Amino acid sequence: MMPQKDQTRLRIGVLGCGPIAQAAHFESCVKARNADLHAICDVADDLRQRMAATYAPEKSYADYGEMLADPKVDAVIVATSDSFHVSACEMALAAGKHVLCEKPLGVSIEEVERLRASVVQSGKILQVGHMKRFDAGIQAAKAFIDTEMGQHLAFKGWYCDSTHRYAMTDAVQPTIITSAKARKPAGDPKANRRQYYMLAHGSHLLDTARFLFGPIETVEARLTERFGAYCWFITVVFADGTVGHLDLTVAVRMDWHEGFQIYGEKGSILGKTYNPWYYKSSDVDIFREADGSSQRVLGADGHFYRRQIEALADVVLKGAPMTGADVEDGIASVRGMIAIARSVESGGRAVRLADVDGAV
Ligand SMILES: NC(=O)c1ccc[n+]([C@@H]2O[C@H](COP(=O)([O-])OP(=O)(O)OC[C@H]3O[C@@H](n4cnc5c(N)ncnc54)[C@H](O)[C@@H]3O)[C@@H](O)[C@H]2O)c1
Repeated sequence: MMPQKDQTRLRIGVLGCGPIAQAAHFESCVKARNADLHAICDVADDLRQRMAATYAPEKSYADYGEMLADPKVDAVIVATSDSFHVSACEMALAAGKHVLCEKPLGVSIEEVERLRASVVQSGKILQVGHMKRFDAGIQAAKAFIDTEMGQHLAFKGWYCDSTHRYAMTDAVQPTIITSAKARKPAGDPKANRRQYYMLAHGSHLLDTARFLFGPIETVEARLTERFGAYCWFITVVFADGTVGHLDLTVAVRMDWHEGFQIYGEKGSILGKTYNPWYYKSSDVDIFREADGSSQRVLGADGHFYRRQIEALADVVLKGAPMTGADVEDGIASVRGMIAIARSVESGGRAVRLADVDGAV
């Protein structure tokens, strides 16, 4: 069935035809109610041509500058390696385009702080691809916390990748096409596992904790490395003084294990989040002390990647409030990852996010 489209739509250009564009962004733009896949861009000709044949954008560019010069492109999705994000976002903003930048926003404090200035100066919208904010179960938890739960007591969050994740994701994702001509950063960004797992997964864990419970001020982190597995246990202090515990483990010897547990004055929440490629919103039980019963969102639209694009388009086209992660959220996530790394290096010392510099 053809997707139902609004009359006014955001024309999107996607930078990068790699795995995340193939598994999420191309299809999301095609299906989005209020956006179109106007253009795609990749230096790898073989990959770009194949994606153009599959998704039929109006334009296909080898050169990013040429895509940015296309007046029909309203917004750009930056879907490149992490270390290219900031420069690609800066170029898009300078060309007058809105941006959806894949997470993490960047890899160092210096570059993300610089990007903040570019966003402010441009007056354009920049949203970070923390798509879990568009998980209806997590959104229901957030609504309860903000409107009914009263005082916060405690937060526990966990994000444990599974040794079986590729068996699971290969079964449900499209076949991912690769190219020897793809542009990659010098060296192998995946060689440093601590850094790679933190950027790839820790960024999600931190953003979900912040989305639900508010800003994080301090972290104390310990890392255990055994048999190729990495386990971070992190004590976090939120801005309101409450304490949380975050568990980032890559990879657990069991199924994907992600979720959160929240205690508040007028209720509690238990959330189980699925591997994103199942497109299933989290099972979230919201217990209300007042009537002694719980509520769970069921049957929600679990296409977080499409929903984050629709939300961005609503902000740009209709002036809707921003519900995705903005540049401040992206910076906070990068600060959190760096603070965790510094705390681990110091044997678990408390590190304030406001004090960190350098890179993840
Ligand atoms: N939100 C999620 O759930 C999720 C999941 C996976 C990956 N990601 C993020 O998505 C991003 C991209 O991941 P990936 O695995 O697809 O990356 P990738 O490096 O495999 O692919 C990026 C593509 O962009 C192209 N490219 C890079 N710079 C370019 C330029 N200047 N001009 C033209 N083409 C250019 C490359 O040739 C390559 O084909 C990463 O930041 C990653 O963290 C997010």
